[in-house]
Amino acid sequence: MLETWLTRELRIEVPILGAPMGGRAGGELTGEVSKAGGLGLLGAARYATPQWVAEEAAVAREIGGRFGVGLMTWALDDDDTLLDAALAEEPALVSLSFGDPAAYVPRVHAAGIPVVSQVNTLDDLRVAERAGVDLVIAQGGEAGGHTGRIGTLPLLQELLDATDLPVVAAGGIGTGRGLAAVIAAGAEGALIGTALLASPETIGPGYARDRVVEAGSADTVYTSVFDQARSQPWPSRWGGRAIANEFTEAWHGAEGSEETLAAAYDPADPDLGVVYAGEAVGLVHSARPAGEVVRHIAADAERLLRRFA
Ligand SMILES: Cc1cc2nc3c(=O)[nH]c(=O)nc-3n(C[C@H](O)[C@H](O)[C@H](O)COP(=O)(O)O)c2cc1C
Repeated sequence: MLETWLTRELRIEVPILGAPMGGRAGGELTGEVSKAGGLGLLGAARYATPQWVAEEAAVAREIGGRFGVGLMTWALDDDDTLLDAALAEEPALVSLSFGDPAAYVPRVHAAGIPVVSQVNTLDDLRVAERAGVDLVIAQGGEAGGHTGRIGTLPLLQELLDATDLPVVAAGGIGTGRGLAAVIAAGAEGALIGTALLASPETIGPGYARDRVVEAGSADTVYTSVFDQARSQPWPSRWGGRAIANEFTEAWHGAEGSEETLAAAYDPADPDLGVVYAGEAVGLVHSARPAGEVVRHIAADAERLLRRFA
């Protein structure tokens, strides 16, 4: 058993958090990650509703018992009803990422729930520390979905040297080798997203799972064109890493107005719709159940780390 701060404090068996992936991590995926010994997090996108949170939380609870919820901090600044909806489900962990969580941390703590925040720079770390979060996640630029620009390893090393908070690593971790590497470096575990994206328990279009199985590690692009096409008002410092397709070939780096991009975008078409995924997509070769993925990553990491025990 790999025992770290994360397993002790969250009372989980393996030091793996299932990423809160908006549009992909509903109750089933979240529940299966928890059932396998990690802690799954529901991905409440900006466009999610309180009803969605309640329904998916019920599914996650039924399958895996405990679970967490991930929210987008910048979106709460306009409307924080999703935070109330999340707290009503008594999650084991709340993730407040992409923005300063200071205004929301006291409410989560008042409910007796720990708070984690994904950070992309040293400055973000200081913001999260001042806000009073309980742990931080070093989210590297190779991660799937919205992220920063610094690679996971440089960022992780920098943060580990700079803080007394527990640090978890995210971005590019898709096998036991990756988990072993970050734990050996001093991380308390890993948050994994892309490695779960071909699993049958994900929500979203079926073609997304196929694209994840087919794509290699060189096939992703860090871009804002999908946010523009979908009128998602993300602050400009966060682009999203997605699998490249005809849409990104045509519009990434081109001058296209939001209207033009919206007209060209088609979520029903794999060549024109978005499949957010990170560079670890090259490590996903088949559609394996999420629980199997989590158990394998944990067991392989433990075996590798034992070589040095
Ligand atoms: C499809 C997808 C959607 C995501 N949505 C969110 C989200 O809603 N909130 C969030 O905090 N992080 C989100 N992320 C980022 C993940 O939490 C995490 O940082 C990332 O998946 C880790 O890197 P990896 O994909 O290489 O495992 C998303 C990632 C992906 C792949």
